[in-house]
Amino acid sequence: MEALYGGAQHRRVTIVDLLAAKKRAEKWVMLTSYEQMTAEIFDEAGIPVLLVGDSAGNNFLGLENTIPVTVDELIPLTRAVVRATKQALVFADLPFGSYESSPEQALATSTRFFKEAGAMGVKLEGAHIETIEKLTSSGIPVMGHLGLTPQALHQLGGYRVQGRTDGDAILEAALAIEKAGACAIVLELMSAELAREITSVLTIPTIGIGAGVNCDAQVLVWTDLMGITKNPPKLAKAYRNLRGEMLAAATEFSADVKSGSFPGPQQTFN
Ligand code: KIV
Repeated sequence: MEALYGGAQHRRVTIVDLLAAKKRAEKWVMLTSYEQMTAEIFDEAGIPVLLVGDSAGNNFLGLENTIPVTVDELIPLTRAVVRATKQALVFADLPFGSYESSPEQALATSTRFFKEAGAMGVKLEGAHIETIEKLTSSGIPVMGHLGLTPQALHQLGGYRVQGRTDGDAILEAALAIEKAGACAIVLELMSAELAREITSVLTIPTIGIGAGVNCDAQVLVWTDLMGITKNPPKLAKAYRNLRGEMLAAATEFSADVKSGSFPGPQQTFN
């Protein structure tokens, strides 16, 4: 992972580093983050790219899915993640309804993320080729997102594996997204074989989530990684059981207060 930083100690990762990592066949990870504490921890862990995903909807904002998330909700979260990090490259997700109307709408929304929150790139779902051209030619790094695109949940008929019948169309879309200037592309919930093929033909990195081991990078939603999510998706792996740890801590605290053992001498002042 250190190599991604090109040896520099105190500079942020850039999209140039991501492209160089692909050339070296060096794998890396991206994590979601929606606030200060996780951003600080993941930055300290050397996670090179953080995504203020619209998955904030069902992991932070108490919503059922990503569709209702607004720009006004994601901007303060993005600002917190940018402020809390020193090295990570921070991307913001463009929420549903904030970029599909026209390239101009997407530019106006992305400009808000850049000016008001300090985002260093944006991610958008689907093959909006003219929009990607407009953003990248305006100096805004764009991360694409194909396969299962959760903002299109109702159109796709649920959270289903993509590309089983339309693999060629997804491959074509990935090539068009690269040609339009995108710096990376998320491949979500598709067959490992299709993701392998896309990864082998693109020169920009692919970031897999439920897309097999052959992508250039992998992304997870942080609450899934840490075992906080109540019903995690099958594509995720919990590396810890923080839900259990936090439940236990809250229960112990409550019991200690009830029994009179908290605060103890160490937390008591004369
Ligand atoms: O919003 C999100 O968290 C995402 C990732 C799963 C890529 O789009």
